[in-house]
Amino acid sequence: MRYEFAPMEGITGYVYRNAHHQFYKGIDRYFTPFITPNQTRKFTSREMNDVLPEHNQGIVIIPQILTNKAEDFLWASEKLRDLGYEEVNLNLGCPSGTVVTKKRGSGFLAFPVALNAFLEEVCDGIDRLGMKISVKTRVGKDSPEEWEELLEIYSRYPLSELIVHPRIQTDFYRNHPNLDAYEMAVEKTQSNPIPLTYNGDLFSVQDFEKLIERFPNTESVMMGRGLLTNPALAEQIAGMQEDHGGREAESIGNRQSDPRSLESLEKENGEKFKCDEKKRLREFHDALLAGYGEAIPGDRNVLFKMKELWFYFGQAFENDEKALKQIRKAVKMDVYRDAVAKIFSECELKNPPRFQ
Ligand SMILES: Cc1cc2nc3c(=O)[nH]c(=O)nc-3n(C[C@H](O)[C@H](O)[C@H](O)COP(=O)(O)O)c2cc1C
Repeated sequence: MRYEFAPMEGITGYVYRNAHHQFYKGIDRYFTPFITPNQTRKFTSREMNDVLPEHNQGIVIIPQILTNKAEDFLWASEKLRDLGYEEVNLNLGCPSGTVVTKKRGSGFLAFPVALNAFLEEVCDGIDRLGMKISVKTRVGKDSPEEWEELLEIYSRYPLSELIVHPRIQTDFYRNHPNLDAYEMAVEKTQSNPIPLTYNGDLFSVQDFEKLIERFPNTESVMMGRGLLTNPALAEQIAGMQEDHGGREAESIGNRQSDPRSLESLEKENGEKFKCDEKKRLREFHDALLAGYGEAIPGDRNVLFKMKELWFYFGQAFENDEKALKQIRKAVKMDVYRDAVAKIFSECELKNPPRFQ
């Protein structure tokens, strides 16, 4: 199984990716938030910083590009190739109004003829650059009825990966992923094998198991919000945590000589697990704060970033409403630090934390 970290604009930039990679295992590939090339023929400094090799040491990174102009896509790809990247990803999923009205992201899905012409030119150019291209897509702009035609278009091109978020643009993040639409992709790519990656609402080990039950041949999954709330999610799914409370308790409980009950051992190990995870989450948080402190000028901007993250972190704790309010209101760094210390010392971490 391959585990991918979803691109998340404003959140999973290089500071976040490096800190995540430092404290958590399990992610095979990190996607950058989208780069939007245009006629200026220049990456913004934010875009450049995000893809600079020195900011991405020891991590597999796939840069993502958002455009509907083949020429701009190929210009950005070549720039990225010169920086050492061998693969780029096309964003056909972004649902935001400002992107969609420009016929980009999931807005491009409503123009299948233009999309096909774009892919033809882009795939040709990418081949000449000696690179690979993957696509991240929704299953339609206004209706899942569009999906069959879109899949047919994708099947014409040698995509290295088709990442499917089975919602339509107008869903934004409402409703549930349309697993029937995903099933259609699984079926249609059997004869013309484009490697598929499933993306959408994988927030727990159980969510993942349910997906595998229905699609046992799944080889690759991408996760976003679930990882923001529980950065250890990929590890937990991959079973990489040796001292996971329940399992360790079970193995100790099997030892005849241990006088303690299985129940008390499970509880004890569960507590230890929560405590270790909380400590790790705190270290991760502190690394993020320090990283943003170095990358962004001014406490106000750093706090803005951290508050965005707390929308997700906050859901990892029990009864943290009061302290969270303090974080949201903080305009000074020391007030923020106090509020964070309070959450970590007073609130229990959920076991496991889950994005709601
Ligand atoms: C705040 C935010 C920013 C996002 N930015 C991007 C982006 O830059 N590129 C992209 O393809 N998708 C973006 N997405 C979509 C995610 O990559 C992902 O497809 C979506 O969150 C569904 O996966 P999940 O249910 O695992 O979170 C973003 C989503 C959110 C919530």
